[in-house]
Amino acid sequence: MPIIYFMAPYSASATALGAGPVVEPRDIDLGALEELAKTAIGQMAYDYYAGGAEDGGLVQENIAGWGQWNLSPKVLVDVSTISTRTKLLGSDVMGPIVVAPTALHAMATPGAERDTARACARAGAMMTLSSLSNAPLDEVAEAGGGAPQWMQVYILKDRGRTKEMVEQVAAAGYKALLLTVDAPVSGLRYQELRGGVSLRDDLELPNLTDASTTRVKGEGFMAAVCQEFDPSITYDDIAWLSELSHLPVLAKGVTRSDDAVKCLDAGAAGVVVSNHGGRQLRDAPAPATVLPEIAESLTGRGTLLVDGGIRRPADVLKALALGADGVLIGRPALWALGSGGEDGLVALLEWFTLELRRVMALCGVRSLQEIDTTLVRRKVPS
Ligand SMILES: Cc1cc2nc3c(=O)[nH]c(=O)nc-3n(C[C@H](O)[C@H](O)[C@H](O)COP(=O)(O)O)c2cc1C
Repeated sequence: MPIIYFMAPYSASATALGAGPVVEPRDIDLGALEELAKTAIGQMAYDYYAGGAEDGGLVQENIAGWGQWNLSPKVLVDVSTISTRTKLLGSDVMGPIVVAPTALHAMATPGAERDTARACARAGAMMTLSSLSNAPLDEVAEAGGGAPQWMQVYILKDRGRTKEMVEQVAAAGYKALLLTVDAPVSGLRYQELRGGVSLRDDLELPNLTDASTTRVKGEGFMAAVCQEFDPSITYDDIAWLSELSHLPVLAKGVTRSDDAVKCLDAGAAGVVVSNHGGRQLRDAPAPATVLPEIAESLTGRGTLLVDGGIRRPADVLKALALGADGVLIGRPALWALGSGGEDGLVALLEWFTLELRRVMALCGVRSLQEIDTTLVRRKVPS
């Protein structure tokens, strides 16, 4: 029986998580965690969380993408202490692992996104709140107790409602906006359609209007997204959001280097290389395959993040070696919340950070600044 994650917390303080020697090994079996979560949250929530576009194949391709790279370790470096600490858009974090914006945390944990916020604050990790959250954004900010948080934005056809939400986000103290740019319409998700996924009657989507929430309850997410989200958004909307909020805006969902450059030229503070966890365009490339060319085209301009299929601490190091400043994790955080609530997510984030230390030590790097492209090599096809 694998130890899944219920082990003593590493330290009472998040700060200690960010630096120190390699400590005793942690064993988290993400497959077992997913199974536990599935049993705990039920089939409908599982279908919503797990599903990808069409046959779901891109979800697996995203994971496999990181496996196309080997790590090329340096030896004879003094690695008696390792630091995973970094700054993301000016905020201090204990490691480069950010919790991705994912909708509907009330289906995973009773405190919904408040639990996520508390867990991230305890682990010193950046949290990104989805605009399809069940908990109100000011309550999530309060639950985080002043820890830095980001907010993801979908621009709605109802621009007035979007403006109101963005102003609330800025007033509540969020540090950045992630504008999702890969969802002008919903992807075609068979698992969601066939599972009859819709919003449970007792749940709310406080960032949408009441009419939109009712529509999601009646017609399901895919239909509602097509009716509510503005498919006419363009590069000009990056400036619109930053003027409204006075916050840095990251464009989330970029998979081409020309688009990445255009986003920065349009005023974005950075981009998130992402295909929405394989939920939108079935044939989009796996982020691990396009990250290097996007990093090259940005030549160090802006903040570069990546998500999709990050499942192992080694994936984090590969992403950083390929040019990212940080990574986002989506489904693993949902499985941790679903199986263990706030404590489960703390354990997952601690595991990622502490075991990243081990991978760094084995690669002969002591800080994130020492991670460079010489540490990765494309695997020779067998
Ligand atoms: C259940 C679920 C809901 C999501 N909801 C959102 C969302 O509301 N906004 C958004 O920008 N991305 C959303 N995403 C995409 C994630 O932010 C992220 O890009 C993706 O999950 C990363 O891939 P991973 O799950 O393989 O880690 C969602 C993903 C999942 C799995």
